[in-house]
Amino acid sequence: KTPTQAPLYALVEKAAALYRRQLREHPQANRAVEYLKQRGVSGEIAGDFGLGYAPPGWSFLLERLGRGPGEQARLLECGLIAEQDGRRYDRFRDRIVFPIRDRRGRVIGFGGRLLGEGKPKYLNSPETPIFHKGRELYGLFEALRSNRKLASLVIVEGYMDVIALAQFGLTSAVATLGTATTADHLKQLLKTAPEIVFCFDGDRAGRDAAWKALQIALPLASGHQLIRFLFLPEGEDPDTLVRRLGRDGFTALMASAQSLSDFLFDRLAEHGDMASSDGRKRVASQAQELASEMPAGIYRDLALERIAMLKGVSPGASARPRSRRPGRSA
Ligand code: CTP
Ligand code: MN
Ligand code: MN
Ligand code: MN
Ligand code: MN
Repeated sequence: KTPTQAPLYALVEKAAALYRRQLREHPQANRAVEYLKQRGVSGEIAGDFGLGYAPPGWSFLLERLGRGPGEQARLLECGLIAEQDGRRYDRFRDRIVFPIRDRRGRVIGFGGRLLGEGKPKYLNSPETPIFHKGRELYGLFEALRSNRKLASLVIVEGYMDVIALAQFGLTSAVATLGTATTADHLKQLLKTAPEIVFCFDGDRAGRDAAWKALQIALPLASGHQLIRFLFLPEGEDPDTLVRRLGRDGFTALMASAQSLSDFLFDRLAEHGDMASSDGRKRVASQAQELASEMPAGIYRDLALERIAMLKGVSPGASARPRSRRPGRSA
């Protein structure tokens, strides 16, 4: 029998309301408001996502929500206060706070961003009885609120990516919270929309995260959904790019996202030696190993066909078969 978590949900919700109010009322909130303005976040979008401000000082929440020992124990349990050497203090201080909601809309934790440079840039709620990073997706509630029948979901890295896209009318982005994409994330997303598009940052970390996501996605690539990958220009993330290209430009770029198997073969080819037949055979066997993770079906068949071609290809041929290439493949 699991105890009810209702008191924790209620407490986190109270904290979210307090933070929201500080963004309007706290004497030092003008810095936070300026920061959001300078990043192009409108008041309307800030409201949609329930953004708030955790004021400076060590005991803003502690004083307001932690009057008794029971209350403090709960604040600790949901990660809003931390404890060191017997002292308790607010976790989020002088940061913009992004309430993280579950898909039903209940606030379960927070991300907090510094108002400028510094470290750590983001601070997140720890794992708690109501917040599990490996399961939650920032922005999923908001995306479903704007459209119950999403044609596709875009997976991005950060809070500001979700928010910037929404501000440009692209309300189908969700973010993994600074953690790798998990199978649980993917299963949820694949249940929610017929297509998912990974759109990580245009840097080494983003490309590596996409490759890891591909490996998680392989056993789930059943053929009923499309899984695609969009790679951004070096140094860009969805936030910077949508502001530069605008909604239409970004949407046009989205249309060029790679299929899962194109990404798989291209990446192996890039890291392998396609000029020699030994190199191509090595790439083929790496591809085979990955393809064996895929469930039986059309997409695995197509991959195996490609692998067969790779093994038998004449020198100079590319990893991508030129014939019989379907318009949209997994
Ligand atoms: N992240 C984190 N802790 C950090 C850095 C990053 O939890 N110290 C998570 C955050 O969820 C962040 C995401 O990883 O949004 C992506 O990181 P990064 O690309 O570095 O940050 P941005 O989201 O681009 O942040 P911003 O645009 O605000 O600078
Ligand atoms: Mn639990
Ligand atoms: Mn990054
Ligand atoms: Mn960014
Ligand atoms: Mn980024």
